[in-house]
Amino acid sequence: MSHNLVWHSHPVDQQVRAEQKSQRPMVIWFTGLSASGKSTIAGALEQILTRQGYHTYLLDGDNVRHGLCRDLGFADADRQENIRRVGEVAKLMADAGLIVLAAFISPFRADRRLVREILPEGQFVEVFVDTPLAVCRARDPKGLYARAERGEIRQFTGIDSPYETPERPEVRISAGDLSVAEAVNQLLAYLHEVDALRAGYQPVAHEA
Ligand code: ADX
Repeated sequence: MSHNLVWHSHPVDQQVRAEQKSQRPMVIWFTGLSASGKSTIAGALEQILTRQGYHTYLLDGDNVRHGLCRDLGFADADRQENIRRVGEVAKLMADAGLIVLAAFISPFRADRRLVREILPEGQFVEVFVDTPLAVCRARDPKGLYARAERGEIRQFTGIDSPYETPERPEVRISAGDLSVAEAVNQLLAYLHEVDALRAGYQPVAHEA
């Protein structure tokens, strides 16, 4: 573990890297059920931010599980380790000066809180993509809900594995009732309100 280790401070720190990029680093953390729209909304927001000249990186559950977290399954302990690893990666990327978008079911409050706590104050923005389970089931883009209901997949979130809804997310998106563009504009308005975007920034019209 971390015995006999001393933290080494380097002259180039987060502030230097953030100033170089003219942006406020942060982690925008999307949590919600499978098929709630997390990745789609995060991807659309990232597209707008990069067009505006921001430096970003999108960490996506399905993708990270092909590499960094390929050894993990969906038991509670595996999900906990998944979020711990990804939280540490997100922290490093934010330290590198990036605006990080993270899209993970992240079903457990304690795991999300841990990520919030390892980040500097104000650099964790929790976004609850609040789409009703019935809507996610009906969408079922990968056919996973149907398979879980047939018992072919175990420990599926919302079926036989719990999802703990955020109590005080910075942003709650009623994604079942909104277009992707509307959801993105809600996020842009929030980022604007907390002064996370450069002065003079204007939300961009965006096709759904
Ligand atoms: S988390 O719970 O550990 O945060 P993560 O976001 O990385 O999950 O991965 C979720 C994705 O894995 C889902 O979008 C879905 O495509 C896939 N998946 C496969 N099995 C399961 C399962 N048992 N529960 C939830 N998602 C699953």
